[in-house]
Amino acid sequence: MAEYDSIAQSYQATRQVILSRPEVYTFETLIGEIAGQSILELGCGEGFYTRKFKQKGATKVLGIDLSEKMIELAKQQEMREPLGVEYCVGDVLKLDQIGEFDLVTATFLLNHAQTQAQLLKMCQNVAVNLKSGKRFLAINHNLELSPECYPRLEKYGRRQTMKVPRQEGTPIVVTIFNATGETTFIDFYLSQATYEWAFQQVGLTNIIWHPLRVSPDNLQQFGQAFWQDLIDYPTFVVIEGVKK
Ligand SMILES: C[S@@+](CC[C@H](N)C(=O)[O-])C[C@H]1O[C@@H](n2cnc3c(N)ncnc32)[C@H](O)[C@@H]1O
Repeated sequence: MAEYDSIAQSYQATRQVILSRPEVYTFETLIGEIAGQSILELGCGEGFYTRKFKQKGATKVLGIDLSEKMIELAKQQEMREPLGVEYCVGDVLKLDQIGEFDLVTATFLLNHAQTQAQLLKMCQNVAVNLKSGKRFLAINHNLELSPECYPRLEKYGRRQTMKVPRQEGTPIVVTIFNATGETTFIDFYLSQATYEWAFQQVGLTNIIWHPLRVSPDNLQQFGQAFWQDLIDYPTFVVIEGVKK
């Protein structure tokens, strides 16, 4: 059974937490215009981003996830509100080439790679499905955050723990919570250098680590002081690479 099978519904509910706001704003700003494009979303979960891609005019959107339950939730929403998103249960570690896409995304997938070899395999399966000259965009939990700043994230509905000293593959236990519930999952620490190595090995170049952005609306609504800890200790990053 995949890790997310048992938390599919509670994970879906976490999409309501406040942390999703800067995440969506940052990612959508970086993705830009996608009308007419074909997009492969790896680790798509219940389709949070695949639906947005289709609503923004992408012609073909395919979401792949290891968890049958996550894909079931995604398909249920597709039945309720048909957008033409395709979903498939699959392991990104074993994917191979299934097409050639204008954009490949992985939203909070890579942080599940437990070893350098697994990260490399995921990146290989990104690159083989991407057209030459096109972008891969990944949202990843910010694995480099130091444990001393973890308590500052609780006001945003996030608790996390990690044994120190950390090394490649150290688990990071993350709980996302709000007034209605919580969900817990496990990421694995791999260094920024390892990520850059994996990208380069598979021909993903022009690597950029994009910082988190808070929208002007959210800054105005909650105030700079509320967001400052998140800006100083960002819980996620967006990693971009372009296929040679
Ligand atoms: C943190 S969730 C993110 C879900 C969705 N992308 C989102 O942003 O709402 C991570 C997802 O990655 C999936 N996943 C983990 N390892 C995977 C693998 N090897 N192949 C495919 N999906 C995987 C999990 O099942 C889970 O749905």
